[in-house]
Amino acid sequence: MLELPTPDRNASAEFYFSDDFQQSLARWNRTRLEPQFPRENWRQTMLDDTRMQTLEGDFLESLRMSVLDKAAEAPTDAEAFVAWFETLKEWGPGQNDPLFPWLAEHATREELRWFFEQEAAGEAGFDDLVAYTQVKLPDQAKMELARNYWDEMGRGNMKGMHGPMLQIVARALDVHPTIENTVPESLALANAMTGMATSRRYAWHSVGALGVIELTAPGRSALVAKGLRRVGLSNAERRYFDLHAVLDVKHSEDWNREALIPLVREDPRRAVAIAEGALMRLCCGERCFDRYRSHLWNGREESAAREHAQAA
Ligand SMILES: [Fe+2]
Ligand SMILES: [Fe+2]
Repeated sequence: MLELPTPDRNASAEFYFSDDFQQSLARWNRTRLEPQFPRENWRQTMLDDTRMQTLEGDFLESLRMSVLDKAAEAPTDAEAFVAWFETLKEWGPGQNDPLFPWLAEHATREELRWFFEQEAAGEAGFDDLVAYTQVKLPDQAKMELARNYWDEMGRGNMKGMHGPMLQIVARALDVHPTIENTVPESLALANAMTGMATSRRYAWHSVGALGVIELTAPGRSALVAKGLRRVGLSNAERRYFDLHAVLDVKHSEDWNREALIPLVREDPRRAVAIAEGALMRLCCGERCFDRYRSHLWNGREESAAREHAQAA
């Protein structure tokens, strides 16, 4: 984990989106967030962690630099800000990607399986990200994150927990995601979300990144659900996607009204941070979709696949 070269201040996106870099971050995140016991070598672990946190910080800053100009356009008046935020659904990076209509209408079961395997490995656990993010937030926003978290927990019913529901899809498709078999773009998405949620200096960014997932997930979920149904998954097996196609519409409205508005009203500087976090998340998603398309459409006429997708 510590053999990575130190990036200079101008390290390129190629460096940060390499297999080596993202796999190292992913392995470190998996280890450090695991519940553990006191260990004799904890001092060395802390030194290692500091080095990895610095690399994570470099990665997050390089992402942030790439969205700075766009985020600066966000209004700092609370209501105007949320109106701007909601338009990300139309013009945000990676929105309306032709991959999803294609998954709904044309992808084979094996292609859907590969797509899901990538997405599952890149899944940082929305519930845990919300839990990390809510620490010390102002009351009204904290309450909204708590309500959202409670939904993730199936409102106290184990069968309704979202994490295990995702595992049902994984079992149905016989998917066994590993870090090594995952494209760096998917790992980068999970690493960016984890980095923002666990470092307090990106707390507002994390609120924006989580909020933009709620905003943009329903459309994609509905199309993935349609593809999964077409290749024979039962209602129970694809429930995760059917549920999020509907529930996240409400989650997004609630998040924007109960978290974003009061947070920006209290301190307008948060508007830029929330906007940056949202754009950082969307840019990572956009890179994933590009990579998925080039993998899945490789060997097909890309333009023909696009036409199919547009006709769908
Ligand atoms: Fe969820
Ligand atoms: Fe949600």
